[in-house]
Amino acid sequence: MASYDDVMSLSVRRGFLWPAAELYGGFGGFYDYGHNGVLLRRRWEDLWTETFLGLSDNYYLIDTTTILPEAALKASGHVDHFTDVLVTCTRCGESYRGDHLLEAATHVEEEGLTPAEIDARIRDLKIRCPNCKGELGPAREFNMMFPLGIGPTAKDRAYLRPETAQGVYLNFKREFEALRRKLPMGLAIVGRAYRNEISPRQGTYRMREFLQAELQIFFDPATFADFVPLDTSAGERIRIAWAAEKNEPTAHEIAAEAVVERGLPSWYVYHLLAVQRFYLAALRIPRDAFRFAELDEKERAFYNKIHFDIQIRQESLGGFREVGGVHYRTDHDLKGHEAGSHTKQAVTFGASKLVPHVLELSFGVDRNVWAVLDLAFAKGDRLVLRLPPRLAPVTVAVFPLVNKAGIPERAESIFASLRKRFTAFYDDSGSIGRRYARMDEIGTPFSVTVDHESLEGNGATVRERDSQKQIRVPEAELADAIAKLLSGETSVVP
Ligand code: GAP
Repeated sequence: MASYDDVMSLSVRRGFLWPAAELYGGFGGFYDYGHNGVLLRRRWEDLWTETFLGLSDNYYLIDTTTILPEAALKASGHVDHFTDVLVTCTRCGESYRGDHLLEAATHVEEEGLTPAEIDARIRDLKIRCPNCKGELGPAREFNMMFPLGIGPTAKDRAYLRPETAQGVYLNFKREFEALRRKLPMGLAIVGRAYRNEISPRQGTYRMREFLQAELQIFFDPATFADFVPLDTSAGERIRIAWAAEKNEPTAHEIAAEAVVERGLPSWYVYHLLAVQRFYLAALRIPRDAFRFAELDEKERAFYNKIHFDIQIRQESLGGFREVGGVHYRTDHDLKGHEAGSHTKQAVTFGASKLVPHVLELSFGVDRNVWAVLDLAFAKGDRLVLRLPPRLAPVTVAVFPLVNKAGIPERAESIFASLRKRFTAFYDDSGSIGRRYARMDEIGTPFSVTVDHESLEGNGATVRERDSQKQIRVPEAELADAIAKLLSGETSVVP
C-alpha cells in the first residue's frame, strides 16, 4: 500500500513527475514529467489508443487546437455552465470549492449543489475558513475556463479548451465527409485540456493543465446496438457502485444483461465492458480496485444523459477515485454547434438523415498514470514498482557484472543490439545489487547481466523484477527471449 508521499517522493526521485516551476516556489496545479514519466505516460497512451481505436475500423485519431473561440464554447454550454461553486473567506481571502468544504466536514461526496444549497449546508455545519477560522462569504458560481484575448488588441475572446471533446465536435462533419460517410464513426484526441481549478490538490488528481484521452463515438440511436451486439456468453460481470452507494468502498458484480435490465442501453453496457477489460486485462488493475460509479441527475455534467465514472482504488488518494467516465452526451453538442454556427450538422447515410448522438469514453491521462504508480508501488524488504511490463519506461537493463576483463565491452555490445528493439538502459556504476534496486524502483521488468561465463560463450543471465528469478540465455537469443517475456508468451518463473 502506498501513501501519497510514497508515490510522490518516488516520482520525484526517479524522474517520473514533480510540481512545475519549483525554482520559483511552485505553481499550484501544474506538473512536469521527467524522462521516466514521459515514457510511462506514452506507453499508457499507446495502449489506450490501440485498445479503443481497435474497437472499430471506423475510429480514428485526430488533433485540434487547444484554443477555441468564445462562440464555440458558448454554443457548447461551457461559457454559461462550466462552473464550480466558489466560497471565499471574508477575513484571509482564501478560496475554496464549496463541495470540498462540505466533504471535509461530512466525509461524503457533496457534488451538484447550488450556491444557495452550499450556503445553507455551511451554516448548518457551522463551517469556518480552514485557514484562519474566519467567516466564509457567500458561495457563487465560478467559471473554470481560462479566458484569452487573441491578437494585439485582444479583441477576439477565446478560451483554452476545457476538454478535448469540443475540437472533435467542430470537426465532425469534415471528417464524416472525408471518411466513409458511415455511422458509427469514432474520433479520438489525446491532448491537453485546461481548467482554472479553484483548489488544485492531491498531485496530478486535480491539475490546471492536464492530458485527456477521449474517444467520441457518433452514432444513430436507432441502430447503434446492432453494430455493438452485447455478447454475454462469457458471463462477464461488471463492477458497479450505484449512485446511492458510491460513498461506500465496494461494488456489485453484476451480469451485463442484468445491467441492461436496469434500463441502460445495451450499447452503453457494451462499452462499460470494453472499458473494464482495458483496466483489468490490459492494465492489469486488480479486479477489486476497479469499479464504475453511477452519477445521478444532480451530479452529472450538464451535457450528459447517462454518466458513470471510472474509478480506481488508490491508497495514496484515500480510496476509489475517478480516472475517467463513460458519457452519453446525446446530440447536445452537435445541436449546440448547429445553432451556434448556423451550419447544419445533420448527415445523410443510407436512407437516414440525422444529427448523430455521441457516446464519449473519456480518460484523464495524468490521473491514470498516478493510479498505475499507486497500484504498482510495493515496499517490503525492497522497493519495487510492479508495473505491467508493457508500461515500464525501461524494458531491459544491461549490466556488466564487473568493470574489467573484457566484460564491459561484451555488455556494451549486447546493450547496442538490445536497444535496437527495446527501450534499454546500460548501467555499470555501483554494486550489482544497487543496480538491480535502481531498476526495480522504476519498474524495469528485465535485467541482463554479463559475467565471466558470457565471455566463454555461455550467454547472459536475465533477471525478472518481481520474482528476482534468473535464467541463462544464449547471447544470440537474448532479444527474442526478451520479446517473448514481454508479451507473456514465456516466463522466467517456471
Ligand atoms: N469530455 C468530458 C470531460 O471532460 P470530465 O469528467 O470533466 O469529462 C474527464 O473529465 C476526465 O478528465 C476525468 O475523468 C479526469 O480523469 C480528467 N480530469 C478532469 N479534470 C481534471 C483535472 N483538473 N486534473 C486532472 N485530470 C482531470
